[in-house]
Amino acid sequence: MKSFSLALLLLVCLPRLAPARKDSWHLKKVSDFSWENCDDGQDPMLIKSLTVKPVPVNIPGNITVSMEGTTGVHLSSPIKGVVVMEKEVAPGIWFQLPCYKKIGSCIYKDVCETIDYFIPPGVPCPEPFHTYGLPCHCPFKKGTYSLPKTVFQIPPLKLPPSLSSGTYRAHIVLSNGTTLRNTRLGCFKIMITLKEASRPMPGKSDH
Ligand SMILES: *[C@@H]1O[C@H](CO)[C@@H](O)[C@H](O)[C@H]1NC(C)=O
Ligand SMILES: *[C@@H]1O[C@H](CO)[C@@H](O)[C@H](O)[C@H]1NC(C)=O
Repeated sequence: MKSFSLALLLLVCLPRLAPARKDSWHLKKVSDFSWENCDDGQDPMLIKSLTVKPVPVNIPGNITVSMEGTTGVHLSSPIKGVVVMEKEVAPGIWFQLPCYKKIGSCIYKDVCETIDYFIPPGVPCPEPFHTYGLPCHCPFKKGTYSLPKTVFQIPPLKLPPSLSSGTYRAHIVLSNGTTLRNTRLGCFKIMITLKEASRPMPGKSDH
């Protein structure tokens, strides 16, 4: 069982971003889960496959995630990341979420540093990286990285279910932090629906 922060890292942080063309911004809502590489996959970093089961994702609950990605370039610090995360507040109406504790709509000066914030360097990589021999820090060599189906446990949240349930989408752009022109390395769009189990309200009882 792995922690939810790792699941978030995989879903939110490993893929990363830069400003996109307005017309290519949105992922069409066709299901409770979808993803794509921007612009038909012209960047060196690509998601090849990404599966999440079940969707909607139950909170609390267990999700099984598998992912395969490739990079055609050696990825070393600094890698700039720009994430815009939105929540659907009414059909077709999206609200941009703030950046909170490095999660949400955040600009990361260097994604490598952000990874080090979540996974301190100098200790063995946490699961599932360890089991599958996946690197968990920069640099990442050119190549293909696969995470076989792995179960992550999502703990109860401290938010009211009405706030956390719903459909979220993220637009993630990763770019080369050393070039002035922000050469894009990867760009991804992911949408997913979460469903939080209702809980008894604190302070109220049924008898
Ligand atoms: C998640 O899986 C673990 C181990 O199989 C189990 O103990 C736990 O109850 C599951 N959590 C939920 C919310 O289903
Ligand atoms: C970023 O650009 C610099 C200068 O062109 C280059 O040396 C470096 O390899 C690039 N980094 C990545 C991750 O592409």
